[in-house]
Amino acid sequence: MSSKKYELVNAETGKKSVLEARSGSLGPDCISVASLTRDHGVFTFDPGFMATAACESKITYIDGDAGVLLYRGYPIEQIATKSTFLETAYLLINGELPTPGQLEQFDHSIRYHTMINETLLRFFNGFHYDAHPMAMVSAVVSSMAAFYHDSMDNDNPRHREIFAHRILAKIPTVSAAAYKHMLGQPFVYPRNDMDYCANMLHMFFAVPAEDYVVDPIAAQALELLLILHADHEQNASTSTVRLAGSTGTNPYAAICVSALWGPAHGGANEAVLEMLEDIGTVDNIQKFLGRVKDKDGNTRLMGFGHRVYKNFDPRAKIIREMCHKLLARLGQTDNPLFELALRLEEIALKDEYFIARKLYPNVDFYSGVIYSALGVPRSMFTVMFAIARTAGWVAHWLEMNGDPAMKIGRPRQLYTGPKQRDYVEVDKRA
Ligand code: CMC
Repeated sequence: MSSKKYELVNAETGKKSVLEARSGSLGPDCISVASLTRDHGVFTFDPGFMATAACESKITYIDGDAGVLLYRGYPIEQIATKSTFLETAYLLINGELPTPGQLEQFDHSIRYHTMINETLLRFFNGFHYDAHPMAMVSAVVSSMAAFYHDSMDNDNPRHREIFAHRILAKIPTVSAAAYKHMLGQPFVYPRNDMDYCANMLHMFFAVPAEDYVVDPIAAQALELLLILHADHEQNASTSTVRLAGSTGTNPYAAICVSALWGPAHGGANEAVLEMLEDIGTVDNIQKFLGRVKDKDGNTRLMGFGHRVYKNFDPRAKIIREMCHKLLARLGQTDNPLFELALRLEEIALKDEYFIARKLYPNVDFYSGVIYSALGVPRSMFTVMFAIARTAGWVAHWLEMNGDPAMKIGRPRQLYTGPKQRDYVEVDKRA
């Protein structure tokens, strides 16, 4: 890695310090600011991490201006058309595409870790039938720490590997249990003779009363969505996993599913469908966009905009294409939600408000349309995203834990509260 130098001068005292910038293999240089506190007694202030790289990583690269997304160097377009979710997870976790033997071993290990402890299954009875599935999945995944506590030493590479396989294998089972609990249907046990996506669909949609045959088109669409959602470098939920994990906590507790839930992040796919249903028909689009553009309102065009992409999100292009194919193959070419989404995108992309702010459809603009075509209810969309993103969370947790230079994440602050003052007894307060 080459290094460039920047000079920082205190305009009042004239005191100078030299800051080194590190260059990565791709992307902008990063100025190392750790010496600022020592040399100048100041911190840097960057709410929302707009310009702060919080770690070094070799997993995923995004060029937001060019609309590029690479998993371990491979373009998302190639991975999406040629790979499977499990192979993608292997790539993210291990850094290289597997050989046939490695893939077989990995696949076998994931298949044979799919069952969850029966006691864990009983946790669901404590939730109301109408609990949001993200709340249930989040709670049950954290609870897995209670099951794998004694056998989990974060410094042991074999333990870390077992954790990675267990969580990847079990999160679809936990998610399906949440779904079945919502429906009041009996839990469907995993089937190790099925591949990852077919098994997921089976656990979600099979009922004991009749046979369920997995539709290969549905499994293929699910595979694609899982690949596209598998990782996205230092997004909010992954950064949460890193921050929690940096304390050395049990990794199941660090897999913080709830950080994905908010509508600004993984919850956007659910919010997009709500928005489309709220708009209703093409005739209402302009009125809706008027609300979005109103400076005094707080309506957003959900599924549009991204912190990093200031050009098309490459995942949105792939998903839109898949929507066309899937709906045609399911005989739903006149799907009203998809038609509405297409028109909304077309109109918004010509609108000065969105052009000026470089707002384009993101991955979630169309993912909900696919999920609903597959029969997945709206409240489960973000859970599907969480299943996929588990691969990324695990890859980042492993990368961080394998790094001997790992430090606890501990941001500083700009304190604006009261200065030191003396305590006043309660009877003396006005
Ligand atoms: N609709 C309308 N205006 C928007 C939108 C939107 N979706 N997104 C950004 N803006 C405007 C915003 O009002 C601001 O305008 P102004 O400069 O006049 O104040 C400007 O664009 C910059 O917005 P920002 O909020 O500072 O941008 P950000 O980088 O902090 O936020 C975002 C990124 C994804 C949270 C935001 O674009 C958003 O809320 N989008 C809708 C929710 C969404 O689709 N989220 C999914 C993201 S992709 C999947 C994932 O990450 O999980």
